[in-house]
Order: sequence, then structure tokens, then C-alpha cells
Amino acid sequence: MSAAPVIPDITLNNGVTIPQLGFGVFQIEPKDTKAAVLAALETGYRHIDTAEMYGNEKQVGQAVAESGLKRSDVFVTSKLNNGYHAHAQALAAFDRTLDDLGMEQLDLFLVHWPLPGIGDYTETWRAMEEILASGRVRAIGVSNFQTAHLDRLFQETSVVPAVNQIEVHPYLVQDELREFDARHGIATQAWSPIAQGKVLDDPVITAIAGRLGRSPAQVVLRWHIQRGDIVFPKSVTRARIEENIRIFDFELTEDDLARITALDRGERTGPDPDTFNWVPA
Ligand SMILES: NC(=O)c1ccc[n+]([C@@H]2O[C@H](COP(=O)([O-])OP(=O)(O)OC[C@H]3O[C@@H](n4cnc5c(N)ncnc54)[C@H](OP(=O)(O)O)[C@@H]3O)[C@@H](O)[C@H]2O)c1
Repeated sequence: MSAAPVIPDITLNNGVTIPQLGFGVFQIEPKDTKAAVLAALETGYRHIDTAEMYGNEKQVGQAVAESGLKRSDVFVTSKLNNGYHAHAQALAAFDRTLDDLGMEQLDLFLVHWPLPGIGDYTETWRAMEEILASGRVRAIGVSNFQTAHLDRLFQETSVVPAVNQIEVHPYLVQDELREFDARHGIATQAWSPIAQGKVLDDPVITAIAGRLGRSPAQVVLRWHIQRGDIVFPKSVTRARIEENIRIFDFELTEDDLARITALDRGERTGPDPDTFNWVPA
């Protein structure tokens, strides 16, 4: 196999750098996670996106430890789960995340959902600020926050989130929220970047892929990269893990970018952050 591609870094608002392409582990069974993450690290990925909710932090930690790479060479993100938004619970949940990962310091910790209908995410964010001040995480951010949620954080708390991780793909291009993030120095991370496969048969995307001799997934991931977002496609399939990283040796034209962006139809694969309110089981 040819040498691993060089993945560009994005500099976050506190100076920390993050590889623009990473590897997501949502819906990877714990028993399959170590092998998938090891395959990604062998292929050249240096950024792993997990969450307490995914139930596989331990296996992510094991893969990083067994990879032979230095801890500082792999950027690891995890997320505060929905049941732990109260101040003391958030602090304890972060301790458990570090324990489960077997790490002394995390690179990025996110509030997974704002849950505006239950609890107060500004209290949660103040706990995140304390965790940042402890030095046990290098950056903090949010996920699934809309502009109104961010505005409240700006007004009532101190630290501007380093990232906002939101659903973005050609059927949900989110330009308004991405521009809002950018205006406030917040990097956008695009989750479900290929809409869990739903955009790959789109004729606009398959036509561009055919012209360039690339796969539809590569074209969509390249669209994200050229728009400046951070992405972390998930796959348990070795050939796809390798395919998804080979997106740094071709370019889409301005016209390609515009045609893909025009596919927007406001279609979510996941919940709407304004109405999603987690209820304990
Ligand atoms: N913050 C949040 O609320 C949130 C929500 C959802 C996701 N995320 C993060 O975003 C990451 C990515 O999103 P996602 O896992 O939902 O979806 P995704 O990356 O858009 O798509 C994953 C699906 O596409 C398939 N796939 C991957 N590469 C492919 C390729 N080259 N060709 C064809 N099919 C391909 C995978 O199949 P196989 O695995 O079978 O190969 C899997 O079924 C997650 O893993 C997670 O880290 C965050």
C-alpha cells in the first residue's frame, strides 16, 4: 500500500490543533471497536471520535495504547452523556471517561446534546470550564447546539466552545449554523458526513465521482474538507477505512462544490436538537 496521506490540521480557538479527518466509532460494537480503531490508526488516521453513549471508550483506549503510537500523536474526543448534565454528575462522568479510556488527559470533551427542555446546559458548561481549568482536557466544546443555545453560553458563561459538532451532509448542509460558528471562532465538526450512506446513490454525487474516478464517499468527504469542516466517517470495513482517508490527492471544482451544496433538503438522519429531550430509561 502507498504511504499514508498527510492530513491537514485545523487550529482551534485556544491554539490546540486537530486533524481535519478522523475516525468515528458510533454504532461500532465494543467487541469490534479495538480492531476497527487499530485498522484506522494503521491506515494513518490520528483522530478518534467516541462518546460515553457509544459504550466503547474502553476499547478505544486499548487500541490507542496497543497501537505503538505515542499518546500525544492521537487526538481523542469523547462526550458527556445526557444523564450527567448536573454539575457534580458532569465532573464525575468526565473522571469515568478518563478511567475508561485509560488516559490521563483527553484532547477534546463535548456536551453531547443541549437538552433545552430538561435541565440547564449553562450549569453543565460551567462544569466543563472547571474540567478545562484542571488541565485534564486540552479543549472543550459542544455538540448539537443551535445558535440560541450558543448565544446563551456567550451571555452566561466564560469560555467560548472550541467546536460545535453537528449533523452535516449534502442533504443537510447547515450553512447558517456553520457561518455562525465561524463568526464566533468555533470550528464546525460534521457528524454523519455521508448521512450513514444515504447520499451515496445521489445522481449528482455519482456523476462527479464517475468524472473524477473516485468513489461517491470520497467525493462527499472531499466536499466537507474543502468547506473547512472537521469530519470523522465511521466504518468497520477495512477497504472503506482506507478509501475514506484517500481524499487529499484530488480537488472538487467550485461548480462541483456548489452542485453538492444545492442538494440540501433539510433532511436529518438524527434527532432535532431543539426538540430532542433525553428521558432516563
Ligand atoms: N455528536 C453526535 O450527536 C453524533 C451523532 C452521530 C454521529 N456522530 C459521530 O460522527 C461519526 C460518523 O457518523 P455516523 O457513524 O453516524 O455515519 P457516517 O460516517 O456518515 O456513515 C457510516 C456508515 O456508512 C458506511 N460507510 C462508511 N464508509 C463508506 C464508504 N466509503 N462507502 C460506502 N459506505 C460507507 C458505514 O458502513 P460499515 O461500517 O459497514 O463499513 C456505515 O454504515 C460517528 O461515528 C460519531 O463519531 C456524532
